[in-house]
Amino acid sequence: MTEPFIQTENLTLQYGQKTAFANVNLSVNAGEILALVGPSGCGKTSFLSCLNRLTDMIPHCRVKGAIRIGSVEVLNAKTNAFALGASCTQLIALRRQVGMIFQKPNPFPLSIWKNMELPLREHGIRKREEIDTIIETSLQDVGLWDEVKDRLHTSALALSGGQQQRLCIARALGLQPEALLLDEPCSALDPISSGIVEDLITSLRQRYTLIIVTHNLAQAKRIADRVALFWVQDGVGQLIESGKVEQIFDAPQHPLTAAYVTGARG
Ligand SMILES: Nc1ncnc2c1ncn2[C@@H]1O[C@H](COP(=O)(O)OP(=O)(O)OP(=O)(O)O)[C@@H](O)[C@H]1O
Ligand SMILES: [Mg+2]
Repeated sequence: MTEPFIQTENLTLQYGQKTAFANVNLSVNAGEILALVGPSGCGKTSFLSCLNRLTDMIPHCRVKGAIRIGSVEVLNAKTNAFALGASCTQLIALRRQVGMIFQKPNPFPLSIWKNMELPLREHGIRKREEIDTIIETSLQDVGLWDEVKDRLHTSALALSGGQQQRLCIARALGLQPEALLLDEPCSALDPISSGIVEDLITSLRQRYTLIIVTHNLAQAKRIADRVALFWVQDGVGQLIESGKVEQIFDAPQHPLTAAYVTGARG
């Protein structure tokens, strides 16, 4: 599988007058893990957020350029929830196709079971047997089933941070997405939980297309197929370089990449 599944063209994002990043041309092949790295404030979270149009919810946020995910033109007016008279169907389909995981695990303050069931029902999956199967399979996929199968109807908030993050990943997987966007998914976790979540992310390679934002370069090196480096230049986030993980770490083309991967800058 070497076709780009996610592709951006001249992607530019502005918050009012502030340009978070400009003219980003980046592609991620189907089934690959792309690690997005760079210093704080260079636009990594903003980049992820516009891929499944979470930026629609931010007032004064404008996104220009093009994003293609699979066959969907993400910035097409038809997927614009706020375009007059537009149907939201495509936007809902996009959110289903592209799951998002945040730095801080965000389970709903409900039972483990309800956390899994709610999004399924929202996306029209109503058959009890189907719901049961998806919940068990997804919890198995994240290695949580044996840990929680006897307490499915207790609060998700009673789980450890690492278990909560795996539950959030299971909740996203239940919708059978094609891509997952993960924004520093391990950085709020203790080292053991972080290792478990990292192994889980690695196990999703091939089945899903993944973009993971991480400040942990050792982690990027361990899990990524490709790496992209963002940097703020002249006050604007820019894509400095992207390439295969070995190339970025062993033979960086740009001096900023060399400085970043050796820890001299950033
Ligand atoms: N909702 C917002 N309104 C205005 N400016 C914002 C908003 N969100 C982010 N920014 C600005 O856009 C720039 C990029 O922010 P972003 O959060 O995408 O960076 P980041 O690379 O994810 O940083 P970090 O590594 O600290 O998470 C920053 O200058 C930030 O202050
Ligand atoms: Mg961020």
